[in-house]
Amino acid sequence: MDVTASRITARALQLQLHSQRLARLSHGRNCLCVVPPQLRLHSRPRSSLSRHSSSSSHNYALSGRPCSSISSSGSGAASSISPISSSKPSFPSPSPSRSFSSSSSSHLNAKTQSSKSLKKNSTTTATMSQNQAVQASLTKSATFLVLTINSSSPSALKTIRSVLASVSDLAKNVVLRDLNSQFSCAVGIGSDAWDALTAGTGLGRPAELHPFRQISGAKHTAVSTPGDLLFHIRADRRDICFEFERQLLAKLGDAAAVVDDTQGFRYFDARDLLGFVDGTANPVGPAVPDAVLIAGEDAACADGSYVVVQKYVHDVKAWGGLSTEAQEAIIGRTKLDNMELDDQPDGHQQAHKTLATIEDDDGNEYSILRDNMPFGSPGSGVFGTYFIGYSRRLWVIEKMLERMFVGHPPGKHDRILDFSTALTGTTFYVPPPSVLESLGSD
Ligand code: HEM
Repeated sequence: MDVTASRITARALQLQLHSQRLARLSHGRNCLCVVPPQLRLHSRPRSSLSRHSSSSSHNYALSGRPCSSISSSGSGAASSISPISSSKPSFPSPSPSRSFSSSSSSHLNAKTQSSKSLKKNSTTTATMSQNQAVQASLTKSATFLVLTINSSSPSALKTIRSVLASVSDLAKNVVLRDLNSQFSCAVGIGSDAWDALTAGTGLGRPAELHPFRQISGAKHTAVSTPGDLLFHIRADRRDICFEFERQLLAKLGDAAAVVDDTQGFRYFDARDLLGFVDGTANPVGPAVPDAVLIAGEDAACADGSYVVVQKYVHDVKAWGGLSTEAQEAIIGRTKLDNMELDDQPDGHQQAHKTLATIEDDDGNEYSILRDNMPFGSPGSGVFGTYFIGYSRRLWVIEKMLERMFVGHPPGKHDRILDFSTALTGTTFYVPPPSVLESLGSD
């Protein structure tokens, strides 16, 4: 065999192996949840006053609904947020998200697990292969695509069911273009859309699923905005994200309308555009499925997740006017070396990281998994953070939002909001892959 022929054979073998792995993934079996030894590591020091300290984690992280109205109060938002309708969409008559990843998944960032960190879930861990790519590796690029179902199209639901059922095939189309792109896509379904898409299927309704509830604090509001479908598309290459989105939208045609399409990028060592490392306190290892996958508490929806997205724009000029120490007090970490600061005494103004820490009366801490991404354009003066949080328990994210927007104690809101405006807010359920596939069976 000459050199060329042997190269071709090797390549063919590589493609074959990869497509076998994809096929396994798309059938929800044997998910290859191996942690690639990637990028950065953050240790997570707990503050001395911090809640339950934890067994330190030495994991190394990879750096890398129907809605109400959007109050676009904050600055010229980026990309295309469509006008918001306050009316509830109606569907002509009567499924959600999974992960298709081109490579092994698992999350990064070291967060020490809370002392009583909910270890009940061996079941969840054992069935990781059944879930979508919510735990995919942090990538250099991501597209956050939010769509609404076109209720005026009689065939919209049929088309969408069919596209959701075959989204794994679409993933294969782009994955093969670069086997090392770390491509993944998680699909989320909004509350009303869930009812519409699953009507007559017998699929259970996720116990906590409901449209994003607006939270109004004395000064800031977490708005609720439309979104029936979320595609969280991740890859190390922007063109791979682009290509998947292009093919996806072509398949959907006029069955769905884009309400927001945001392209995020990894900024240096996973910093947000406020200049801080973002994602450090994410769970790692076995704590990840424990934090993100629904288990026995809602058995019909086991291995699914809830996901909440919010698109924030920052007033970077005002933020830049603060001293570094003042910024650090707002975030709760040092800016340069990302060290955690102590919590303030009860009743005082708390930092963002403290307000976003949820504990029950027994000291159990409830984590979520974030993969926030910066977005924006200096030329148009847009600087933003796209917040995305996956959780096994929707109430945990809602509690975080309440503490941020209303404050804890009430009135002492998260000061990050004085420099960041939420333009969107939408909740989805990310079903196991098998559920997505079942939608195409009628
Ligand atoms: C403007 C938007 C936001 C920015 C720029 C931002 C940035 C940050 C940064 C820099 C940290 C510290 C490093 C880390 O642990 O990741 C952090 C922590 C955290 N954030 Fe945010 N965040 C934003 C919105 C939110 C929202 C809306 C939530 C939840 C609803 C949230 C939940 C958390 C959590 C759970 C932590 C870890 C807290 C802990 O130390 O246990 N963040 N965020």
